[in-house]
Amino acid sequence: MRGKFITFEGIDGAGKSSHVNWLADTLRQRGLTVQVTREPGGTPLGEKLRELLLNEPMHLETETLLMFAARREHIARVIEPALARGEWVVCDRFSDATWAYQGGGRGLDKTKFLTLEHWVLDHLQPDLTLLFDLPLAVARERIALANRSLDRFEQERADFHERVRQAYLDRAQHFAQRMRVINASRSLPEIQKTLEEIIKTI
Ligand code: TMP
Repeated sequence: MRGKFITFEGIDGAGKSSHVNWLADTLRQRGLTVQVTREPGGTPLGEKLRELLLNEPMHLETETLLMFAARREHIARVIEPALARGEWVVCDRFSDATWAYQGGGRGLDKTKFLTLEHWVLDHLQPDLTLLFDLPLAVARERIALANRSLDRFEQERADFHERVRQAYLDRAQHFAQRMRVINASRSLPEIQKTLEEIIKTI
């Protein structure tokens, strides 16, 4: 039986990454084999592209094409083979991030996004997408507390991140069947309780 594909999304500072491993462990306790991976990245080539994407200034369409190039490699080498083996894949960001960041944040033409998504994803879609949502001010505070250097996206102005957040929320409404909005302002145990409820349903 084919495995399930779960993706995590949200603005920078939403705290989703701390829940990725927790969810994978919870699924493993159910006896499932789980691959944890991320985008951009997830393959040796994808991780090299990630370095460039997070640090090197580039044209919006170059950025979009590199995101999808990394994704093509990731789907072909990691995601599809694992799902075909019956394993579950938990992925920190996927195509919704391109919709939100390059589309919502930077204004990429929707038709170009849809063309690339159709080409690269073919018919692959997550079975479940967990969208970690919280006010921008709270997310910014969390990033500041981490006290580390910021990447190209984190350095963007507040209005960019507001547009990313809104694009995610609009998309979650549009794809209400696979996307679940998680109130990420709450405590870790409260969020974990919600996640437990949600994964019981898939
Ligand atoms: P991360 O910090 O969650 O690992 O994500 C790295 C950054 O890459 C994050 O700021 C969002 C950005 N990103 C895009 O802009 N488009 C994409 O398609 C993906 C996957 C990530």
